[in-house]
Amino acid sequence: MDLSRFPRRRYTPFATPIEPLPRFSAALAASCPGGQGPEVWVKRDDMLGLFPGGNKTRKLEFLVADALAQGADTLVTCGAPQSNHCRITLAAAVKEGLQCRFVIEERVPDSFHEDASGNHFMFRLMGVEAITVVPAGTPMAPAMQKVADELAAAGRKAYVIPGGGSNAIGGLGYVACAQELQQQMFEQGLRFDHVIVGSGSSGTHGGLLAGFLGNRIPIPITGIGVSRDPADQEPLVWKEAQAVFDLLGIAEAVPREKVVSVGGYWQPKYSVPNARMVEAVQLAARTEGLLLDPVYTGKIMAGLIGLARDGCLRPGERVLFLHTGGLPSLHAYEAAVLGKTPVAP
Ligand SMILES: Cc1ncc(COP(=O)(O)O)c(C=O)c1O
Repeated sequence: MDLSRFPRRRYTPFATPIEPLPRFSAALAASCPGGQGPEVWVKRDDMLGLFPGGNKTRKLEFLVADALAQGADTLVTCGAPQSNHCRITLAAAVKEGLQCRFVIEERVPDSFHEDASGNHFMFRLMGVEAITVVPAGTPMAPAMQKVADELAAAGRKAYVIPGGGSNAIGGLGYVACAQELQQQMFEQGLRFDHVIVGSGSSGTHGGLLAGFLGNRIPIPITGIGVSRDPADQEPLVWKEAQAVFDLLGIAEAVPREKVVSVGGYWQPKYSVPNARMVEAVQLAARTEGLLLDPVYTGKIMAGLIGLARDGCLRPGERVLFLHTGGLPSLHAYEAAVLGKTPVAP
């Protein structure tokens, strides 16, 4: 898979580390049937550039390069009130001398607060040009196009980035991650039996799957849904992976059976804390000093823990958890994560 023909900006000057989590694995095993569990490792995509970075950093390397190639002066994107994607897009815009505007969807009613901390605070600190808040369920593409049209009427040129940076160009970032991982496994003599990744707007899962298939990496990937159960999530991931194949000119169909996701860990609602997330965030923090976030990686790790306890990730198997970032939103949910306020089961 030749990525070199696509324009790319570089925001991370190193391959993100792959680290074993021996204390986390031991604690997990103690809670699994028979006292045995998988050996868990982590790929630290939370250390990506545009710090505190995350999976969006990789997607934006290709998206922002495309925006610059098109002569855009403003990035327009969308997300939830504590969107990591919006914050990292803004950081990229600032670094490139571009302006940045958001359309924020209040997915949980009354969740947008001008004085909120976490990512929202960073929106203000880094100087977002304008935020349009819309109610849950508003179609985001037309809402962003409206912002782009207003900018065009003022003689400016917007580049619209879909939610999560998940389109074929953004997905190239996770093809690059697959290639980076393959090189690391080769250089470090590592093998993994399974990769666990978050599955939301689907660019990370779909892009990584396209990268694994295209580079003939035979390790199964399981996506943990952060907002949808498999019947709704897997078609999105499949479409994303195929779009990446098509953009790369790979004349193959992505096999449907390679798209595997797991539901049940994001409920009661996207971004709303639950007890399994709290357990996962506390366990990672207290065994490894590894910080997960409540909206994404906490629920994704809860999925890994659940799969281990159910025996789907077997004792002795080596499992790689892709840590996709999200640190700032931890501060917006401190009481829940510390167990000081009740959360959903
Ligand atoms: C920290 C973090 N992890 C995982 C995801 C899900 O990734 P994707 O939207 O590419 O499916 C997101 C999306 O915003 C995120 O911010």
